[in-house]
Amino acid sequence: MNRIVKPSKRALNVAPFLAMDMLREAGNLAAAGADIVHMEVGQPSGPPPRLVAEAARKALQSGTIGYTEAKGLPALRERIAVHYTDTYGVSVDPAQVVVTTGSSGSFVLAFLAAFDAGARVALTSPGYPAYRNIFNALGIEVADIETSAADRWAPTAEAVRNLVSHGGLDGLLVASPANPTGTMLMPDTLSALADTCAENGIWFISDEIYHGLDYAVPKATALSTSPDAIVINSFSKYYCMTGWRIGWMIVPPSLVRTAEVLAQSLYISAPTLSQYAAIAAFDATEELEQRKAAYAGNRAFLLDALPGIGIKDFSPVDGAFYIYADVGRFTNDSFAFAQKMLGEIGVAVTPGADFDPHRGHRYVRMSFAGTRDEMERAVTRLKDWLK
Ligand SMILES: Cc1ncc(COP(=O)(O)O)c(C=O)c1O
Repeated sequence: MNRIVKPSKRALNVAPFLAMDMLREAGNLAAAGADIVHMEVGQPSGPPPRLVAEAARKALQSGTIGYTEAKGLPALRERIAVHYTDTYGVSVDPAQVVVTTGSSGSFVLAFLAAFDAGARVALTSPGYPAYRNIFNALGIEVADIETSAADRWAPTAEAVRNLVSHGGLDGLLVASPANPTGTMLMPDTLSALADTCAENGIWFISDEIYHGLDYAVPKATALSTSPDAIVINSFSKYYCMTGWRIGWMIVPPSLVRTAEVLAQSLYISAPTLSQYAAIAAFDATEELEQRKAAYAGNRAFLLDALPGIGIKDFSPVDGAFYIYADVGRFTNDSFAFAQKMLGEIGVAVTPGADFDPHRGHRYVRMSFAGTRDEMERAVTRLKDWLK
């Protein structure tokens, strides 16, 4: 008798990433000729910066695109270290920089380097779904810190202390600006969270992927106050390089060799062509600031237009390019709501269940990383549809 082969329990524990499912569905509809406005996935719609494309062309013409060392090209790691001095006045040793396949690659490396199976790590809810999904895949328990609109969706040191004393904790992961809320942590909140982790001997991981995309509050890196933090960043968002799959993390000296050893066997090295191109991204500030100004324009347009069509509850959109909106007056099932919206008016958004398994059923996330024309078309279509 044949034994039936099945996926692992660990893998079956991983929930679908609904934003990616919506991306696939919206892509299928667009391929079949539908006119879709994409607000489902957080990615800049334009090309990479001119200097990035030129650097990639030059690297291609130069011949071999071989492996790099596991932590990444020394020239890129040095450039990333300089970025910390220039942007935040923080000194980083290039030896502490690990280049990865997007920040997604950093998550797997950092989580494996810092936590054993069975560890317990705190995350804010709502939050970026892949954190929870990767933790589930690795057998790491998630402890939720439920935030709310009333407290600007920001976690507090008190909530972390509470989890430490009730069940114990091995780490805390925060993002500022956050996905899906756009919330940015004030520098004193960030340092209070880092201090709480240090006092309790637990890892502090700071996802800084949306740095550069701040509209109202100045950005702060966890490294300014916490040299033991693991800081994760990427070329995907501010630098407009999602598909190049290139990111990085800064790890404390105690984790450098561990991260390197894991990287050697998990993926050998990050994409080499993208690494050459990424060096040039730091010189593309003029072009990138123009993109940021366009997001700021989209943000202002939507913050003004959405209340007029009945989408009134969202806050605070300090940074990133998302609006996390309460659509509870229209639906109690934002997944069905998003599907219907896509099918009937061709506007793709992400259901809140992706970010908050318990309360997300009354929220949707709208990305304003597209063009102004797309934002205007979305509002026009939604206006009639929501009536
Ligand atoms: C908060 C956050 N972190 C990390 C990522 C992963 O990005 P990447 O792997 O492209 O760097 C995303 C993508 O949307 C995100 O929103």
